[in-house]
Amino acid sequence: MPERILVTGAAGFIGSNLVERLLERGDTVVGIDNFDPFYSPAEKRRNLEASLAHPGFRLVETDCADLAGMEAALGDGGFDVIVHLAAKAGVRPSIQQPAAYTRANIVGTQSMLELARGRGIERVVFGSSSSVYGDSAKVPFSEDERADLPISPYAATKRACELLCHTYHHLFGTGIIALRFFTVYGPRQRPDLAIRKFGTLMLKGQPVPMFGDGSMERDFTWIDDILQGVLAAVDRTRAIPGEYRVINLGESRTTSVTRLIALLAQALDVEPRVERLPPQPGDVQRTFADVSRARELLGYAPTTPIEEGIPRFVEWLRHQPL
Ligand SMILES: NC(=O)c1ccc[n+]([C@@H]2O[C@H](COP(=O)([O-])OP(=O)(O)OC[C@H]3O[C@@H](n4cnc5c(N)ncnc54)[C@H](O)[C@@H]3O)[C@@H](O)[C@H]2O)c1
Repeated sequence: MPERILVTGAAGFIGSNLVERLLERGDTVVGIDNFDPFYSPAEKRRNLEASLAHPGFRLVETDCADLAGMEAALGDGGFDVIVHLAAKAGVRPSIQQPAAYTRANIVGTQSMLELARGRGIERVVFGSSSSVYGDSAKVPFSEDERADLPISPYAATKRACELLCHTYHHLFGTGIIALRFFTVYGPRQRPDLAIRKFGTLMLKGQPVPMFGDGSMERDFTWIDDILQGVLAAVDRTRAIPGEYRVINLGESRTTSVTRLIALLAQALDVEPRVERLPPQPGDVQRTFADVSRARELLGYAPTTPIEEGIPRFVEWLRHQPL
């Protein structure tokens, strides 16, 4: 059954890919974005080109952290479900501008939850992050871990958002699924993320900055696998109303930075030059998702190992302006 879906962060990497998938399956979508200048707003507008030509899509340019402004910009429309992806993303810049992260992420999420309450929207899917596990969790990361020792402002804001989601669920019965994404990559990936950044530098023949000794590991997750989980979460909030869940979405495999550089270089057919730099504060040593809860509750089955994802990503990257 087609639904009316409000997607925040709709012009971003994950949001714009999600909007296309929702339109394909027949939903009508209102997308919110404030075209935050963290990276090129022109690139974000390109992300939405196809969706803007679709009759089922409307873009509303507004700031999620400004509830009154957002209410006015949205007008009277009703929604079945909100997918809240708008955020200031990225660990390292959050250390430089913690207040901006608190506003966009925590105040932004609180405003979305208030908007849901005010409009009688009973279902929310929230884009959380593996960073909430901090540096001390046992691997693979399980949702049963306490996750109360974040090591960057970004991670702390995401955990705070989860706690707000739980509070609104408890007080008002809102059905909320918080999805903890593990480093997502694929077409439209943010330019600050390692795979895109390294690939672009290699294409320009420039050295790749490697923070630490290259042993840092990430659970890199292909965008289509993430979208599979997001769509299943949207559907679950309809099938099972009024529950609060936290669910990991990862590939459940880790890749070291050294191996990532080798895979990218192979796919790009270049000899990489690596510039070694000290480890960065705020970066965790490893992320690694236990996805058994996602498998059980969402029927989640990721299918794209990094060895397949990187060549597909490189295909896309070769067509981007450097
Ligand atoms: N990409 C990843 O690897 C990853 C991993 C974990 C979690 N996440 C989370 O997933 C979500 C999407 O991430 P992404 O990689 O697509 O990031 P992105 O930066 O490409 O997309 C986020 C979008 O939100 C918009 N936005 C920011 N602040 C806003 C505000 N106050 N009001 C309205 N719009 C605002 C931005 O303009 C941007 O288009 C974020 O919440 C991020 O924290 C992403």
